[in-house]
Amino acid sequence: MSVLRSYFKRKLRPKIIDYFHRFYYHSNDTWFKNTFLGYEIRQCPLDLQLYQEVVARTRPSFILQTGVNQGGSVLYFASLLDLIKADADGFVIGIDVTLTERARTLTHPRIRLFEGDSTDPAIVQQVKALVAGRTGLVSLDSDHSRGHVLKELHIYKEFVGIGGYLVAEDTNINGHPVARQWGPGPFEAVEEFLELDYCFVRDDELWQRNLFSFHQYGWLKRIQ
Ligand SMILES: C[S@@+](CC[C@H](N)C(=O)[O-])C[C@H]1O[C@@H](n2cnc3c(N)ncnc32)[C@H](O)[C@@H]1O
Repeated sequence: MSVLRSYFKRKLRPKIIDYFHRFYYHSNDTWFKNTFLGYEIRQCPLDLQLYQEVVARTRPSFILQTGVNQGGSVLYFASLLDLIKADADGFVIGIDVTLTERARTLTHPRIRLFEGDSTDPAIVQQVKALVAGRTGLVSLDSDHSRGHVLKELHIYKEFVGIGGYLVAEDTNINGHPVARQWGPGPFEAVEEFLELDYCFVRDDELWQRNLFSFHQYGWLKRIQ
């Protein structure tokens, strides 16, 4: 019996989890159709639960996301700041290379949107001026190529204080375990980033109890 149990734990369990992850990710009628308060949100609900926990625990003075798309996530983050009764000057920054018409209709008073490449020094300068030395939660969800994510990690790490989170989203692509044909992406960028940066560690405990995350191995916590 214990041999069977150990076989299940070591061999079958990870296979079942990865199979479900791939099935859920690649189905047309699952997460891609999700909305938040009417705005499309390109997230797995399990990850929204984790963001909620992180925000409630760390109480960031701002939340920054690169990659806004239809705006669901920035609206979700702004609503979380409302729910935790963050200071009135707690805000959400969204950066997108092309802001969609839908995102432009967002009227939540905490949301500040910027249009441009998230690694453009002019955009970064404007964001720096806005946060004025404060630290917060950063979520990277724009161009998912290895090179771009790595650049973002290096630029935006300084916006995160000790105990705070820098989330490289969609680390599951390029076969980790979904979208096998993608090519080097966020997962590879995180690997390279952590080789040289000792201020951040992966917080895998955060997501592993839920079995998988679209950002698995990409939830980075600043420890020094
Ligand atoms: C996956 S979607 C973002 C989804 C959104 N965060 C959500 O949770 O609903 C990726 C977005 O990144 C934007 N994007 C792509 N390359 C970018 C870049 N270099 N800088 C900023 N945004 C970029 C795209 O225009 C697209 O809207």
